[in-house]
Amino acid sequence: MTTGTPRPHIDTSKPHPARVYDWLLGGKDNYPVDQRVGETLPKEARGNAARNRAFMHRAAAWLAKAGVRQFLDIGTGIPTEPNLHQIVQAIRPDARIVYADNDPIVLRHAEALLSSTPEGATDFLLADVREPAAILERAREVLDFDRPIALSLIALLHFLPDDEDPYHLVRTLVGELPSGSHLILSHGTADQHPELKQETETAYKKGAIPLRMRTRDEVEPFFEGLELVAPGLVFATEWYQEEPAPARERSGFYVGVARVPRAEHGAVLT
Ligand SMILES: C[S@@+](CC[C@H](N)C(=O)[O-])C[C@H]1O[C@@H](n2cnc3c(N)ncnc32)[C@H](O)[C@@H]1O
Repeated sequence: MTTGTPRPHIDTSKPHPARVYDWLLGGKDNYPVDQRVGETLPKEARGNAARNRAFMHRAAAWLAKAGVRQFLDIGTGIPTEPNLHQIVQAIRPDARIVYADNDPIVLRHAEALLSSTPEGATDFLLADVREPAAILERAREVLDFDRPIALSLIALLHFLPDDEDPYHLVRTLVGELPSGSHLILSHGTADQHPELKQETETAYKKGAIPLRMRTRDEVEPFFEGLELVAPGLVFATEWYQEEPAPARERSGFYVGVARVPRAEHGAVLT
């Protein structure tokens, strides 16, 4: 984090996605406006947030065990232990992680994201995913773009409406990654909770937070040109590698991990 950065202004008059999510996870870094959104959401939202976070834990650990040492995590959220770098550095102490989020409250708590192992590195930048060039420029200072990188976009893209073309944005970011890199993605959906769709969208809308839950057919194109690893594009409660999935629970998130193919296989990432 740049030293001498002015203390970020936190607008407590409007709810913010990072603080609503913090409330859902039982955190303390939220304000009454955020709590009101949380309380208006269906009661299933808290379990969905926890199960999304648990997917992040499993996917990050799996990739670290597979040898991935570099992570670019956009839409990081308010630090919640264990954070991504703690998970991967427990497996690969030399892992390097760049975090980015557009909410100043995350910057205020960034110290917790910067507690790297001595062998590794972590960095945080206050940035918007809709401006990928700034994120990539900073990421290049910490990560080696000639070696595999895991790009994580976890519980982020449903905050981007269709007219912001989140698909193009993902292609732009993924297009910068070398072959052997991965995309870790999770995305809000009402496919298993159709009866809760309206209640969920209305709760966020009242807080002036755009929320675009997407169907499976709408989430799948985020992986265009990539090779989904097993078990594929599934609900958060179904993405397991070493251990079997527990008894089937409903989920409000689709998740997937996909590999950037070798260039000679014709990665079509325009
Ligand atoms: C629901 S939280 C997810 C946090 C974490 N990735 C996780 O899944 O545990 C979404 C995060 O995305 C951030 N966010 C929302 N829109 C963003 C944007 N346009 N650019 C960067 N970050 C954004 C929010 O500030 C928030 O911290």
